[in-house]
Amino acid sequence: MLKWIVEELKLPAPPFWLIGGLLILMCLPLVPLALTARARVSSSQKPRPHIFLDMDKQTKFKAQADSPVFADGRAMRPPVAGTLAWGEKADLPNPDLLAEEDHYFRGYRLEKNAATGGVDTVYYQGFPGRVSVDQAFLSRGQRQFNIYCSPCHGLGGLGDGPIHQRALKINAGSTGWVQPSDVTDAERASRPEGHMFNTITNGIRNMASYGAQISVEDRWAIVAYLRALQMSQDAPASLAGGIE
Ligand code: HEC
Repeated sequence: MLKWIVEELKLPAPPFWLIGGLLILMCLPLVPLALTARARVSSSQKPRPHIFLDMDKQTKFKAQADSPVFADGRAMRPPVAGTLAWGEKADLPNPDLLAEEDHYFRGYRLEKNAATGGVDTVYYQGFPGRVSVDQAFLSRGQRQFNIYCSPCHGLGGLGDGPIHQRALKINAGSTGWVQPSDVTDAERASRPEGHMFNTITNGIRNMASYGAQISVEDRWAIVAYLRALQMSQDAPASLAGGIE
């Protein structure tokens, strides 16, 4: 049968260029593999290929660069007059009120000290005008205190929360752990409201800041609740008449 096919059909031998071409074609798929293998073991100073540009590369002015767009030639622009910090209300009646805003947003103001030539931090006594301390506000403060502060300071504020208990257990013998303050002790009770507000906003000594998690209003509510905790420590018996 095979003999017949070869004799009858008389197939010619394939030409040399066809065999050579086929051999080259068979080797071509190896080229990308070889290039990849080489890239993996060599290093290059060129930035890697960036196929999807998205907005990664765009014309822009870098900090401190100059710009022909503005008359004063500066690319970095000062805030437009009347710009308010994030979270501030845009309906402030007049700029004089901004001093009072320090009270609400920061709890302290900076005052020039003529005697020393420096700047003093003065903490505000009492609650800012926008805040009204009533039962609902105190309950809000209690709720937020129990969520954010009680794990360390304890539900009563004495500095004996579960985190402290656990730290004592696993740190026994080490001196690294600082006990959360008893927020009802005499020193803490003597702090101005603005000081307590700032403690929550920015942290104090070993305590971290909670300004990013807790809103300004809620921070004041917690301060009000801290005052309630402090008063509850040595409330006079005469107060009991009002308690059902
Ligand atoms: C992760 C633990 C932790 C949490 C949560 C925490 N605190 Fe503290 N707090 C501390 C520690 C520790 C100190 C004492 C820091 C020191 O003395 O170095 C402290 C100190 C304080 C003080 C005393 C500051 C002073 O005037 O001396 C107050 C007030 C206070 N915390 C309030 C709060 C309030 C309010 C919250 C919740 C918003 C809170 N803390 C959440 C650990 C914590």
